[in-house]
Amino acid sequence: MRVNEMFKHFHLATFLLVVYALLIVVHSQGQTGFISLDCGLPENSGGFTEESTQLDYISDAPYINGGESNGISAQYNVNLQRWATTVRSFPDGTRNCYTITTKKGTKYLIRAVFMYGNYDGKNSTPTFELHLGPNFWDTVQIIDSPSSVVKEIIHFPLQNYVRVCLVNTGSGTPFISALELRPLKNTTYIAPSGISLGLIARMDVGSNLTTLVRYPYDAFDRIWARYISDEWMDLTTSLTVDPQDHTDFQPPNVVMQNAAMPVNKSGPFRLELNSGDTSIGYYLYMHFAELQQLKANESRIFNINVNGKHMYGPVIPSYLSSMTTYSTTPITGSLNYTFTLDKFENSTLPPIVNAIEIYNLVGVSQLETDQDDVDAMTNIKAAYGVKRNWDGDPCVPIKYLWAGLNCTNDGSDAPRITSLDLSSSGLTGEINTNISRLSMLVSLDLSNNSLTGTVPNFLSQLTNVKVLKLGNNKLTGSVPAELIQKSNDGLLSLSVEGNQDLCASTSLCKKKKKSNVVVPVVASVGGLFAFLLVAGAVFILVKTKKKHVSGNEESDDQEFGTKKRKFTYAEVKGITNNFTRVLGKGGFGTVYHGVVSDGTQVAVKVLSRPPVQASHQQSRDEESRTQEQVEQQNKQFESEARIHYSYLCTQNYWFIQIYERKKTRVELQVKLLMTVYHGNLTSLVGYFKEGTNMGLIYEYMANGDLALHLSGRQANVLSWEKRLEIAIDAAQGLEYLHHGCKPPIIHRDVKTPNILLNENFRAKLADFGLSRFFAADNATHVSTRFIAGTPGYLDPDITNNSWLNEKSDVYSFGVVILQIITSRPAITKTNDDEIAHISNWVQSMVANGDVKGIIDPRLQGDFDINSVWKAVEIAMACLSPTAARRPNMSQVVIELRECLASELTRRNNSRMTTDSTDSFEDLPLNTTTGFSPLAR
Ligand SMILES: *[C@@H]1O[C@H](CO)[C@@H](O)[C@H](O)[C@H]1NC(C)=O
Ligand SMILES: *[C@@H]1O[C@H](CO)[C@@H](O)[C@H](O)[C@H]1NC(C)=O
Ligand SMILES: *[C@@H]1O[C@H](CO)[C@@H](O)[C@H](O)[C@H]1NC(C)=O
Ligand SMILES: *[C@@H]1O[C@H](CO)[C@@H](O)[C@H](O)[C@H]1NC(C)=O
Ligand SMILES: *[C@@H]1O[C@H](CO)[C@@H](O)[C@H](O)[C@H]1NC(C)=O
Ligand SMILES: *[C@@H]1O[C@H](CO)[C@@H](O)[C@H](O)[C@H]1NC(C)=O
Repeated sequence: MRVNEMFKHFHLATFLLVVYALLIVVHSQGQTGFISLDCGLPENSGGFTEESTQLDYISDAPYINGGESNGISAQYNVNLQRWATTVRSFPDGTRNCYTITTKKGTKYLIRAVFMYGNYDGKNSTPTFELHLGPNFWDTVQIIDSPSSVVKEIIHFPLQNYVRVCLVNTGSGTPFISALELRPLKNTTYIAPSGISLGLIARMDVGSNLTTLVRYPYDAFDRIWARYISDEWMDLTTSLTVDPQDHTDFQPPNVVMQNAAMPVNKSGPFRLELNSGDTSIGYYLYMHFAELQQLKANESRIFNINVNGKHMYGPVIPSYLSSMTTYSTTPITGSLNYTFTLDKFENSTLPPIVNAIEIYNLVGVSQLETDQDDVDAMTNIKAAYGVKRNWDGDPCVPIKYLWAGLNCTNDGSDAPRITSLDLSSSGLTGEINTNISRLSMLVSLDLSNNSLTGTVPNFLSQLTNVKVLKLGNNKLTGSVPAELIQKSNDGLLSLSVEGNQDLCASTSLCKKKKKSNVVVPVVASVGGLFAFLLVAGAVFILVKTKKKHVSGNEESDDQEFGTKKRKFTYAEVKGITNNFTRVLGKGGFGTVYHGVVSDGTQVAVKVLSRPPVQASHQQSRDEESRTQEQVEQQNKQFESEARIHYSYLCTQNYWFIQIYERKKTRVELQVKLLMTVYHGNLTSLVGYFKEGTNMGLIYEYMANGDLALHLSGRQANVLSWEKRLEIAIDAAQGLEYLHHGCKPPIIHRDVKTPNILLNENFRAKLADFGLSRFFAADNATHVSTRFIAGTPGYLDPDITNNSWLNEKSDVYSFGVVILQIITSRPAITKTNDDEIAHISNWVQSMVANGDVKGIIDPRLQGDFDINSVWKAVEIAMACLSPTAARRPNMSQVVIELRECLASELTRRNNSRMTTDSTDSFEDLPLNTTTGFSPLAR
């Protein structure tokens, strides 16, 4: 008999008849891991249990995006299993794919069933392709309305999902009736990697059953069909074969109870297979069990041959116990194959066989696209509701590459997405973060959409990106400086034009850069006074236009997007529990503890109008402002001024406007596009402004300021290592302000009270520029009459206006380092009631040879002396009277790191000794007896 003829028979009518239902006890193993999708079943109709098989079906809707639900024509809806009564058809799109999550490392039998049933009333049977992920699986050719076509493949998914795709080849609309996945044992049906097994035939030979055998009789829900031949005769038993299911293949008992043998008892058992293509490879599985109790003089012994060549044997079936033989390499190279079971000369009985399976090789070596890329694209597609026919694997096969994508595809590695073009796709919302997962992206085009929000910084972290098009959207904020930098360096082609509210878009940012705005540009005419409340640095003074100012007010919150930045005064009252807990007081008002709605602790700095509460200052490092200064401030407010204040830092861009228009009334116009983020700078959470009530809300720093910890008022003594870490942190913050921002931000009030410590004693700089007053007598001359800063930290080299550049911060930082070493205040009064500066004191101590005397005695000698000395040297360099001689902060950071390295070396050396002691003490002691074995 020829397999192909039988196979044709297989997918004719019988399939839909009620499955074999014998009154035998079947120990059902449950449907664990089974996935049974009834395609076209409406999602809301719930699942059902098929009566004859007890299989539980669910709707396919959650596993596929496109397609239409259809019921088959009533004429064919007779005596059918329920899953056959609906289909899902795919009139749209070339390729539509089911994505089904599978268990990793599990081999599956995947079965797709197609019964046309004239569901579309066209009586026109389609032909289409079935793909498994990017790989061709088979062609589905529908023969007529009532027949069902079954395609089965045994597949080992490399990823944690399986994709089954229906591909329209122009010969009718693809459809599907059912899709089933059954986990198999991984020791069975083994194929080389890159190969899956497509079912040709699964034959229950010698059977007299007219129905199919499947679950629950077959634990793996393989479907067995009866095959008959005139050349064969049956041999059956009513006894149970394999009561213990001892083989991994577990052919069902009802299948194994019947066997076939040749009618001509001296001739071979023959099976023919017409391949038609010499290159197709096959795997043959034969299941044997002896059904006859052999007498002493009887024997059944035979070989399995292919085209007359020995393939396997001798085979001696065991009584009522199944065995499976199979080829370990594919059978290939012929147009036709004749499989024979040839009896041994001395065998008294003819060969038998109980069941046969034939599979062909299906190449699945085309790797699927990198899973992370696929996941990212799936999320991007969902987030933007992309309407394109984006289905199946994004990159492969090339023929079905998703529109707008380009990928690497060298055959040996999983394809990666290199190009994403979503221009003119009606996208709304923000730039999706999943884009950041497309790490091999070279080109990204999001232009001509309605994207809102800011240009996310992650775009600059996509290191391979060479082309970035963001033009003609509604993006706001600013272009991350790193992107601009890349673009300026010629590493990136960046376009952001046509985003009205995007900070200046690149063109403007570039323009600013080119015009080289350094240090304050006092552009306004007439006696302008600037009252700078916020993050220090450089600004442009522009003459106020009142209506412009008020016009900006409303847009404030929009600028911040979804994240709330502007708070009402009432909210601030709530946040601070009506200003209950005072964290500190400074020249600019009081700082309160608060908790915002998400539970984050914050520090609320309430800015008070002068006269400031200068007289209430508590910090010993902070000096009261003199009455003269206060008057000076008041005078400033008489002028009307508006400050445009802007700078560009490598991470973000902060644009702040402050203006004051009425006598004795300050109005703060904060237009905050993004706060500056740096790990060593306290970050701004928000601000409030209602009439004269205004202030800034900062992150809360649990351990207060450095001044407190050096003062000796805290029980804990900061170790030398900790002190160096704090110094490095603060130095890095300052370095960022100086070198990470253009133009540089000058802090102008570097001092220990402005170095805050978080719960882990990591330091952040606070108040950068916040409590600074600037006075400008006129547009061209910057006054030195009124200089901000705290005595003791002030750069003496004011002759060069150095307080306006970074070197004055470096001086102040030198003072901070000395305080970290000595734990002494910046200035002290000597016995003669003279004021002594810490640097003078240190110098005199060193001159007197009392080197160790300068170090905080509470450290009790627990430090590397070289490390301390190096720190002293750094501090003294910073304190150089001539600004030009001082190092810059980058140098300071490097030197301080060396100090820390040398301290850590000492610590580690001493720790090694300690550790050995520790481990000795950690030896398990016999605690039950209450005595240590070491104790005597
Ligand atoms: C089969 O699966 C078992 C566990 O399920 C695993 O230990 C074994 O290595 C797997 N064998 C193969 C050939 O994959
Ligand atoms: C099939 O064979 C079994 C065992 O010989 C027998 O009991 C049964 O009646 C047969 N069924 C048919 C439909 O021939
Ligand atoms: C039976 O098979 C043997 C061996 O192949 C052959 O010689 C014999 O002619 C066959 N008998 C019939 C009736 O075909
Ligand atoms: C293979 O089988 C087909 C159909 O039975 C036949 O026409 C053809 O001649 C055979 N080819 C060979 C090489 O045996
Ligand atoms: C049958 O013949 C084979 C060799 O052809 C031999 O190995 C085997 O032992 C023989 N068996 C019996 C039962 O004679
Ligand atoms: C995709 O990339 C390849 C190789 O870089 C290139 O040859 C091809 O033109 C690209 N296709 C598209 C549509 O951009």
